[in-house]
Parts: sequence; structure tokens; C-alpha cells
Amino acid sequence: MSEPRIIVALDFPDEASTMQLVEQLEPELCRLKVGKELFTRTGPQLVNRLVTLGYDVFLDLKYHDIPNTVAKACRAAADLGVWMVNVHALGGPAMLAAARNALSASDAPLLIAVTILTSSSDQDLHAVGIDRSPGEMVNRLASLAEHEGIDGVVCSAQEAQQLRSSLGNGFLLVTPGIRLPSDTADDQKRIVSPVDAIRQGSNYLVIGRPITQAKAPLQKLLTINSEISQL
Ligand code: C5P
Repeated sequence: MSEPRIIVALDFPDEASTMQLVEQLEPELCRLKVGKELFTRTGPQLVNRLVTLGYDVFLDLKYHDIPNTVAKACRAAADLGVWMVNVHALGGPAMLAAARNALSASDAPLLIAVTILTSSSDQDLHAVGIDRSPGEMVNRLASLAEHEGIDGVVCSAQEAQQLRSSLGNGFLLVTPGIRLPSDTADDQKRIVSPVDAIRQGSNYLVIGRPITQAKAPLQKLLTINSEISQL
């Protein structure tokens, strides 16, 4: 297949359970996401191992700090050989510019921004002094990220259509909250099928439990790939 669009979220507590899944997958069929729990438990060593196996790794650590620190963290991620890293757009223009500047080489990882976490409600934003709705903030922060040269944003499929039309085709949209009709929703509130997410403008789909907890993870991945390859 051409370019894998599925990013499997490796939400595991240790290297052994992670590798038990990874050994059933193929780098040609998916990319992998390492988040805060797994990275905090296993460190760069596991990331190295996945990269050495030929996988594109999305290091999902959502950096948010002073510009100099974020720039250096992004550089450290690039040195690990990861394919994608992310930062919080709420870090502001100077922090986004510093991250962009640190990852300016042609072989640098893709740099993605997180806008407003989908778990944040109107009340959560109000409590931290933001009196705009999550939807308004997503648009505002995605525009800021694009203005600072960031490659794309993490967004829900519901936000994808609007962001695709306002920010154009070159801006990457990375979308979690994906479920097939036969899957359970787990703790996701608003779920969308892989086909609908791609139709709404997503470039990459972050999928965790529907694949990691499947009886036959490779089969599940192949099914999703075959559905979206027909679009
Ligand atoms: O298992 P599931 O498919 O729900 O996993 C989704 C992954 O995407 C998890 O790693 C989760 O942390 C991440 N994510 C999300 N919603 C966001 C941002 C990230 O579910 N808004």
C-alpha cells in the first residue's frame, strides 16, 4: 500500500506488552504512536527499538514550555529519529516559532500542534480564564499554528471539515476518536468511522483500542486499510 494513514496508539504500560502487539503488525501497514505513559515507563530505548524495526513513530509528548526548552526537546526527538512530534499551540507564537526553527531540516520530524484537548469543556476553559468556546479556540489556535509554519494539528473528525476548508489542503489533520460501527466507544464521547474521518479531511487516523485490544490486530488493521484505500 502507498502511505499508511493509520497511527496505532501504543497505550501500554510496558515494553513487553507493547512488543507483543508490535510484532503482529507491519511498518508498511501502519505507523505507531508513543505517548506519555509508555514513554515515561520505557524511555527513548523503546522508541529506538521501534524506529530500528522500520516504523514511523509519532512521539506524542505535547511539549508546552518556554521556547528554548521546547526547541531543545524537539531537537532531542528529531535525534531519536521519530517521524512526528507535537507541541501545545497554547504555548503561543514564540514557542511555536522556536519549535519550527528547531525542526527546519528537510529530514526533520513533522511538527504538529495540539489545539484544545477534546476532553476540555466550556467550563474547563472558563475556569482557566478563557471565555471563548472550545470550537472558537480550536479555529484560532489552528490558524496560529499554520501562521507559525506548523505542519498540522491534532483534531476531532468533527473539527476536520471546517479546518480543512479554512486552512487548505497542505495542512495535516491528525484525528483520534475513530471506531468502526462494530467497535465499542470505550471512553470516547464522539466517535467517527475511518471512512468518514478521511472524507471529512483527516490525513492520519490515530486508533488505539479497536486495534490493540482486537483478537486479531493485524486482521483489524487490514480491514480498516482496505476500507479507506477505496476512497
Ligand atoms: O483507544 P483509542 O482509539 O480511544 O485511543 C486514542 C488515542 O488518541 C489515545 O492515545 C488518546 O490519548 C489519543 N487522543 C484522543 N483524543 C484526543 C487526543 C489524543 O483520544 N483529543
